[in-house]
Amino acid sequence: MFSFRLTFFVHCYYYNVFLYYHLFVPAVRSSDGPRKRTNEKMVGTATRHLDEFKINCLHQFTKKELNEHAVAQWNYQVNKTEATEHEAMRSSIRLFIYQKLLVTSAENMSVAFGMSYEDLLPLVYFVHDRGICQLNTDEYKTTLMLKRKLKTTINELTVCEYRKTNHPCDVTADEINVIMASSSDAIELKYYWKAWHNHTSYDVKNIYMNYIEMLNYMARLNRFSNEVDYYMEPYNSHNQGQLNADQMYEGIRPLYLHLYTHVRKILREKFGTATVSANGPIPVHLLGSVLGQPWTKLIPFMVQEFVVHESGKTHSMTPAKRLFDQANRFFVSIGMGCVPKSVWSHSVWKDNKHFSNRQPSSWDLYANNDFRIKMDVKDTVEDVYTMHKQLGLVHYFAAYKNQPIAYQHTSNPAFVYGVINALTLSVRYQDFIGRYNDSASSRSAYLLRLAMEKVAVLPFAYAADVWHSEACTSSFAPKRMNDHWWSKRLKYEGVVSPISKDMDKCMNPNYKPFDPSAAYAEVIELPHIKDFLGPIIEFQVFKALCTICGEYKSKHAKTKHLYECNLRGYKKVGKIIKSVMASGSSVEWKFLFETIVGHRRVEIEPLLEYFQPLHNHLLKTNQETNEHIGWK
Ligand SMILES: *[C@@H]1O[C@H](CO)[C@@H](O)[C@H](O)[C@H]1NC(C)=O
Ligand SMILES: *[C@@H]1O[C@H](CO)[C@@H](O)[C@H](O)[C@H]1NC(C)=O
Repeated sequence: MFSFRLTFFVHCYYYNVFLYYHLFVPAVRSSDGPRKRTNEKMVGTATRHLDEFKINCLHQFTKKELNEHAVAQWNYQVNKTEATEHEAMRSSIRLFIYQKLLVTSAENMSVAFGMSYEDLLPLVYFVHDRGICQLNTDEYKTTLMLKRKLKTTINELTVCEYRKTNHPCDVTADEINVIMASSSDAIELKYYWKAWHNHTSYDVKNIYMNYIEMLNYMARLNRFSNEVDYYMEPYNSHNQGQLNADQMYEGIRPLYLHLYTHVRKILREKFGTATVSANGPIPVHLLGSVLGQPWTKLIPFMVQEFVVHESGKTHSMTPAKRLFDQANRFFVSIGMGCVPKSVWSHSVWKDNKHFSNRQPSSWDLYANNDFRIKMDVKDTVEDVYTMHKQLGLVHYFAAYKNQPIAYQHTSNPAFVYGVINALTLSVRYQDFIGRYNDSASSRSAYLLRLAMEKVAVLPFAYAADVWHSEACTSSFAPKRMNDHWWSKRLKYEGVVSPISKDMDKCMNPNYKPFDPSAAYAEVIELPHIKDFLGPIIEFQVFKALCTICGEYKSKHAKTKHLYECNLRGYKKVGKIIKSVMASGSSVEWKFLFETIVGHRRVEIEPLLEYFQPLHNHLLKTNQETNEHIGWK
């Protein structure tokens, strides 16, 4: 065994050197274009077995690069210091250069490996976003720097404390986020909202304009007319035509309007009719955050909270371990097995103020089953679901490990969001009902909570993308960007800026607002299509899985609602999901979607079906107080 390993290592080492040699010598180009093989002799003598060996070595080598990169990114994520940030940046550039070298030397390698160029090419693209390889290293660095600047400009702001003139101005972005979610003083909320925008607008706009320009440039290098066409490409499949997001938005709108009207009613009760009118749009600063999205921050005072009945026995485990085991049991029950033992010990469950961001995330470190989770466990209701999602992702990583390294990625982000969240939907319901006892009101509360998260985001994501796409295609002048932002948000979401433009101009002639900046505080990745399609796909996948297990039948929907479907214990579910996850990124997401749902169309009906009982309930309660549905 030992000698075999040693030989393998020596051979692989030899090929790695050989590989480096081929990477650094200029690509062989002939006048007949890239397909022509210039070294017939090598092609003739190469055996299939040897090719596989060489490919294997290439993959080993790539895996090592990916591992180094992932380790550096992880270190930065869980321990933000100047050193880890610098290292993360450096490793991104290094990986980019390596990827570029592989692509530009694919022709040489195909000769050396005795493979056709077409066969080899897909195996060397290990980055998810192939288009980025068209940039040169300086351009890539510029893109990284712009993202970083965007993030730091937003997250490192400080403003003066409300109504304290004599204090140092050291209220941070994080503190503002807490205030926006917890204060019930509308004037204070407006103050912080405005201070936040005043501090970020001007800088962010400049960075943003450069960033958009860079993305458009990259899209053109990839032969797309602009960034929007480029990022929409995976969603517009060849045989299904254009994705009809407009139609989907219109279909969801009736449900949204009832949810919206209900929320406005409660905000009116909270802040008074002088602040929230009976039939007008909602001022965005009252929605729990600077951006006004997601609405989940409103849940604590919006949805009746029930007292948790603790079972009396004290837990000897930490909350993180308890939740981890609970999530593990679910995946075992559907036949997906356990995640590797090391996941627990390699993960970080507590934010000691060093996390570089607040988002929970799961990591594939590209080394022997080294998967990790970064999550700040606080033992809330949400943590139960978050833990299931993170563990679901780890199952994804473990499942795709049989793919060549180039395909060891999760699929399209909207699809992944849909699949992972669909798995946890039945857990959410069971957990909620288990905590608060089953009653008509706890069921309503469950659905309302979920709608605040899954439905309220859709009009926002849609509006943001419409705006972004018009910004990319220069449909309006840069100085009109802010007005357009609010006109889209009013049209689709029914929210308005708390600042009156005319009044504000009088007070500060230099104020040049760029309010979309709030949308880029957490996630810099621009298009919001993932947030729009993700929840829609989630309910489609959920319904399909429930139907397959016989847990749900549309014709009996009146007696057993879709939301009551419980996937726990169905090995069939695990089998389907595992097969989807096992293909990694080797298959286009639409085909994976088809294996679950039975067709490739993205449809809103399952989401509407899931929330139908809530829709009926809101219709009734909104009628009782004679609400104006929607805004004017
Ligand atoms: C965080 O990173 C620094 C290097 O910048 C290192 O010295 C320190 O030990 C790390 N802390 C933890 C908890 O890993
Ligand atoms: C307010 O500021 C003045 C001058 O800057 C200082 O002398 C005074 O002590 C401050 N008052 C308080 C309450 O901090």
